Amino acid sequence: MTEEVLTIRNLHVHFPVKKIPFKKTTEYVKAVNGISLSVHKGQTLGIVGESGCGKSTLARTIVGLEKPTSGQILFEGEDISKMNAKRMHELRRDIQMVFQDPYTSLHPRMKVGEIIAAPFKAYKIKDNVPSRVKELMELVGLNPDEHYDRLPHEFSGGQRQRIGIARAIALKPKLLICDEPVSALDVSVQAQVINLFENLQEELGLTYMFIAHDLSVVKHIADQVAVMYLGKVMEISDSDSFYRNARHPYTNALLSAIPLPDPLQEKSRKQLVLEGELPSPTHPPSGCVFHTRCPFAKDVCKQSIPPLEKDDVQGHAVACFYPVQHHELEETI
Ligand SMILES: Nc1ncnc2c1ncn2[C@@H]1O[C@H](COP(=O)(O)OP(=O)(O)OP(=O)(O)O)[C@@H](O)[C@H]1O
Ligand code: SF4
Ligand SMILES: [Mg+2]
Repeated sequence: MTEEVLTIRNLHVHFPVKKIPFKKTTEYVKAVNGISLSVHKGQTLGIVGESGCGKSTLARTIVGLEKPTSGQILFEGEDISKMNAKRMHELRRDIQMVFQDPYTSLHPRMKVGEIIAAPFKAYKIKDNVPSRVKELMELVGLNPDEHYDRLPHEFSGGQRQRIGIARAIALKPKLLICDEPVSALDVSVQAQVINLFENLQEELGLTYMFIAHDLSVVKHIADQVAVMYLGKVMEISDSDSFYRNARHPYTNALLSAIPLPDPLQEKSRKQLVLEGELPSPTHPPSGCVFHTRCPFAKDVCKQSIPPLEKDDVQGHAVACFYPVQHHELEETI
């Protein structure tokens, strides 16, 4: 495995719940609640989980838009919280973010050429900016001659995301944090944009954290996959082992939700259907946070927190006292 570009150790990001003005806050939304993971150079870590499980909070904290409550974020081994202002300024070049909604993240009255040139301006880089912008446009599949002077609203969703990607890679970052970059796009366009991410990774040696709602979206792009639930990682593994041998009941429920292309296969398949709502991250369940929705929960699951432990398969870790054995899953459901 290549060296770690990003290392996260026991990260907590809690937001105070403001209840009564002037009264001390006693409740917190535990959006990220004890996450440890790493992203390796030139690789992609896919992160998947239901709405509200803390994916964006994790992403925003890595790029400095939220403050950690506790825990460590290391970039190339260096603790971000200990960096001085100069080092932080450099770091903001190295870690860039691509957002879900390419429209709201692009200034509506700025021309595409100006939007992609903005990072150069922010870092006072003046040499050959127009030609560098044109190169970037070509790199992401835009036409510099036609598109340079146009406004964002003149573009389709997929093209707007290409503009956002060009801006994010303008300063040659080392790490791209992509927060659901294809969720707002049509399925056919999603595949094209994912291909673009893959090509850019190969060409520029980029490292990605790639967040999605759905495990099928990250299947092709991710080298490693992590599943989040209520601010915690439930399972993390190399992609191959993950899709072949998912051990956590929650992961299996998410995999069951992906429709199979063959209707006959779909009809005959055993599914682990997820019931109930995501509990509140302000009052997460005791013990295993998934126990209120888990078909395999036993008494111990309500009392003790299952640690994220390495499984027998190399690189595969699962936070469950009773990881799914696939033959058992067939019998149970
Ligand atoms: N600034 C904030 N103040 C208070 N609560 C917040 C804040 N930001 C996020 N939250 C809460 O933290 C939890 C996690 O939110 P987050 O946006 O990180 O989830 P997500 O996994 O990205 O969801 P989605 O898939 O819908 O984008 C949610 O309950 C959300 O309401
Ligand atoms: S620890 Fe228990 S409740 Fe949690 S996922 Fe495993 S079996 Fe289900
Ligand atoms: Mg989000």
